[in-house]
Amino acid sequence: MNTPVPPSSGTPGAAPSASAPPSTSGAPDGAAPRDFPIRRGCPFAAPAEYDALRTDDPVARVTLPTRREAWVVSRYNDVRELLSDPRVSADIRRPNFPALGEGEQEVGARLRPFIRTDAPEHTRYRRMLLPEFTVRRVRAMRPVVQARVDELVDDMLAAQEPVNFVSVYANAVSTSVICELLGIPRENLEFFRDVTRISGSRHSTAEQVSEALGGLFGLIAGLVAKRQEEPGDDLISTLVADHLNTGEVTLNELLSTIGITINAGRETSTNMIALSTLLLLDRPDLKEELRADPSLMPAAVDEFLRVLSIADSIPLRVAAEDIELSGRKIPADDGVIGLLAGANHDPEQFDHPEQVDFHRPENHHVAFGYGVHQCIGQHLARLELEIALETLIRRVPTLRLAVDREQVAFKHDSATFGLEELMVTW
Ligand code: HEM
Repeated sequence: MNTPVPPSSGTPGAAPSASAPPSTSGAPDGAAPRDFPIRRGCPFAAPAEYDALRTDDPVARVTLPTRREAWVVSRYNDVRELLSDPRVSADIRRPNFPALGEGEQEVGARLRPFIRTDAPEHTRYRRMLLPEFTVRRVRAMRPVVQARVDELVDDMLAAQEPVNFVSVYANAVSTSVICELLGIPRENLEFFRDVTRISGSRHSTAEQVSEALGGLFGLIAGLVAKRQEEPGDDLISTLVADHLNTGEVTLNELLSTIGITINAGRETSTNMIALSTLLLLDRPDLKEELRADPSLMPAAVDEFLRVLSIADSIPLRVAAEDIELSGRKIPADDGVIGLLAGANHDPEQFDHPEQVDFHRPENHHVAFGYGVHQCIGQHLARLELEIALETLIRRVPTLRLAVDREQVAFKHDSATFGLEELMVTW
């Protein structure tokens, strides 16, 4: 997930730069820190190296692509402890903040998306959004989401085969749902994809990220102005009426909040829909299980979220004080990443974590993070995934790959793991 924010005038705090010196703490026992991120071998599992980390080096020193150093935490209990510890900060302005791309670090430190801030600032934004994402509100969206998904299946079936499933279905579903929620015209689909691709890539420069986000914020600013004149029953109208018109937030703050919601909700859901579908194509037994008993779908979605853990290294933090996890000290001011795929594949917490099992008695995964920054959109994400996958299995039972399995390309260098492209036919 990337962190869009609108242009802002002030730049409080010291923003790190490409030339920031690495933190001075060394790797345990003098070993050289390993490079991070670590690539997945199997797309449906955590990198195999995480098993060794959990066993031998549960709080491991790593070198990031920015050449800064940080710690990665891989055990389930440690990840939860880390993400709920009030001595741990999510403030991107801190010099050792462990961003994985220079673009995100520079732009984020200057513009401050609320996902990368601490209380009380973070709490203010979160409170503003939370009422719009309750289970009740999301449940009320079910008929609209189902109708949009049915239309998108109609469009796909009417198209010339083969089609790229990622753009024609996964991205179209996630973008349509966000557009529906916010009251954004659907013709902006392509535009959103480009913004997310550029701002979510670890290879993008600060200039490229700024430019992509500038375009996004221009578009949102236009919508906000429209809703000020003609309010509707969408999220932008509610935020304008309840928070902008009352003077509680500035226009820039509102644009930032809406921008985060769009980007956070699009890329993640797109990747989850596409990757879960590929998993079902690889495993006809699982698909058959869901076809025979669609009531398993909610449990299946949570199991896909756990197994796939696409937002593995999204929770980036800095220790504001010395903290200790699994008997190892993380000194104050060091960057630390809670590995969600590490936690979700911890055999101490999940029996046979590599197995996809729709009947797990308890599935308290951390695919949506944990603690004060836990995903605001999780109920909506679950609803989208349930409807997108159930409708596909029911209406396109013959869906299959249009290329050799080895040709399927994965996104290894993006903020969240996913598929570049998935050519399918039926
Ligand atoms: C399958 C889909 C999704 C996954 C796996 C996911 C994952 C996550 C994770 C791991 C975090 C925590 C980041 C941290 O601790 O630093 C997060 C935060 C967030 N997510 Fe999601 N997300 C998904 C879908 C969505 C959707 C659909 C929306 C909104 C429409 C959304 C909006 C947000 C926002 C606004 C935050 C920031 C919360 C805060 O900082 O308080 N996400 N998400």
